Amino acid sequence: MAGHVVDFEPIGRRGEISDGQSILEAARRLGVDLVNLCGGGGTCGRCKVQVLTGRVSDPTASELEHLAQTDLDKGWRLACQTRPLADCKVHVPPESLTAPQRTQVEGLEVEVEPDPVVVACSVELSAPCLSDLRADADRLLEALGDKQDSSCQRIDIEVLRALSPGLRSWGWKAMASVRDGEIVAVGPPEGRRLGLAVDLGTTKMAAYLVDLGNGTTVASRGAMNPQIAYGEDLIARLSRAMESPEEGARLQRLVVDGLNGMAAGLCEETEAHPEEIVETVIVGNTAMHHLLLRLAVDQLAMAPYVSAISVPHDVKARDIGLRLAPGAYVHLLPNIAGYVGSDHVAMMLATGLSEASRVTLALDIGTNTEVCLVSEGALCSVSCASGPAFEGAQIKHGMRAANGAIERVRLADGKVEYQTIGGAEPTGICGSGILDAVAQLYLSGLLNRGGRMDLQPGVRENGDQREFVLVPEEEGGERPAITITQKDVRQIQLAKGAIRTGIQVLLESKGLTEGDIEEVIIAGAFGTYIDVGNAIALGMLPSLPQDRFRQVGNAAGRGAVLALLSRAKRREAHAMARKVGYIELAGSPDFMNIFTQSMYLGPYREEEE
Ligand code: FES
Repeated sequence: MAGHVVDFEPIGRRGEISDGQSILEAARRLGVDLVNLCGGGGTCGRCKVQVLTGRVSDPTASELEHLAQTDLDKGWRLACQTRPLADCKVHVPPESLTAPQRTQVEGLEVEVEPDPVVVACSVELSAPCLSDLRADADRLLEALGDKQDSSCQRIDIEVLRALSPGLRSWGWKAMASVRDGEIVAVGPPEGRRLGLAVDLGTTKMAAYLVDLGNGTTVASRGAMNPQIAYGEDLIARLSRAMESPEEGARLQRLVVDGLNGMAAGLCEETEAHPEEIVETVIVGNTAMHHLLLRLAVDQLAMAPYVSAISVPHDVKARDIGLRLAPGAYVHLLPNIAGYVGSDHVAMMLATGLSEASRVTLALDIGTNTEVCLVSEGALCSVSCASGPAFEGAQIKHGMRAANGAIERVRLADGKVEYQTIGGAEPTGICGSGILDAVAQLYLSGLLNRGGRMDLQPGVRENGDQREFVLVPEEEGGERPAITITQKDVRQIQLAKGAIRTGIQVLLESKGLTEGDIEEVIIAGAFGTYIDVGNAIALGMLPSLPQDRFRQVGNAAGRGAVLALLSRAKRREAHAMARKVGYIELAGSPDFMNIFTQSMYLGPYREEEE
């Protein structure tokens, strides 16, 4: 088959692709991380590249929609829509690359007495001789039987394969890691017993390396979920996996490679070895959970959105491709419903929601926002399709929270004040900045309650819509202006409206009003950085005194650590998942009315004149 060489500059990656493949497909093959918020669907307009040399296909309808004729004339194209017809050189501007993102690993510190499911047992064995011809494994099992109350009768096959040479090289002294009567690792007597806890998000992953002996987190790190190259939202990922078993396998490998890389990095930082990781707990939304286990996802992507499994599940780490201790298990906490996954359970565990005595609302804001209301000891959750707008997707100058992203906006006396991540030159605006900007425009009277932008100083007409100029062209040098458009405001209304709908449905299901809420817990990376006052001003969060709000960082990650360290906490998570109620928003009788009210800017009201 005829192929063409594509050369990506200034990254310096080049390689051959088949005839008919797009520039985005070439980028994926060559490991160039192009932004592709819509997964290559031609709708987000974010995969812009400039074709410097070489013939390419004619512009598609979506390129004509997203690119001005003057830009097309200069070679600017959408990578997902453009197919090389000859060898090409392609320029990738910085804003089209998925820059490393600010990831959140810090969260609540919750003390727990270490009582992990894997126990360590040091043994000293007698060497075989003519009067003692017991097999090596029998010798080990008997020694362990003498030391432990519980019987230990099984040895993982990979552990068994390495046992005989190991015992001899360690002089018949060893440390065995035993899990529910099965030996999952045997190492030298001075070896460490480590655990790995992972919060596997759609956009970001956070991993924690934990000493199972003393309960300390010895290292942690965050990274982007590498599946992002296949679309930023859940639906794009699920659709990709549904295309063919090979695509599902590709997505799974990507995330497993990412997790192996994180585990190796954490171990290197602490002079440990991945083989010392004897237990892992992974939490994530139901889609991430299913893709990791390579479960069927068709039924998850289509109404009535049923998961393949919701009960807790153990799987050998090696069976999903993780390179840890030879017999280590991965424990997956339970899911609650199709779109309420084990990350929500972990968040509830870390925040102690099941013991809350006050009326408490807990939110984990993301592409999908889960909200839980606790009242009179009963827990009830909903899942809100808040969409990727708060990740910067579907926003004209939106970007993820990376260097140069505007993260704070204030309008004072008609002047715009903004702050960027890292203090860098502004290159776009991330979720917290967009939320601030829309709230400030509303509070300044430039947006009415319905979200319509008034033509006042600072607002201009651009084509068929109005936009507010945050950073004018002159300040950005060669770069275009950074603006908030009327369409951006609509996206934020949809996102905040979805979240507020979830809150209202929960409140109404219990006959409560927002004033009854005594505490609001906001979890997750985005929730950590939002300005609560502006979120209240928009009506996304309830109008309550700010001292009732608590921003707790990555609570799901902390919950995973707790379930790793403590059998009691693991049981508590299992019990909580069984007892939490779930409301399917679309099935709620007043859903449409509540959603309509929630879309208005400003405090939530029952009646709109
Ligand atoms: S328009 Fe190309 S990835 Fe979205």
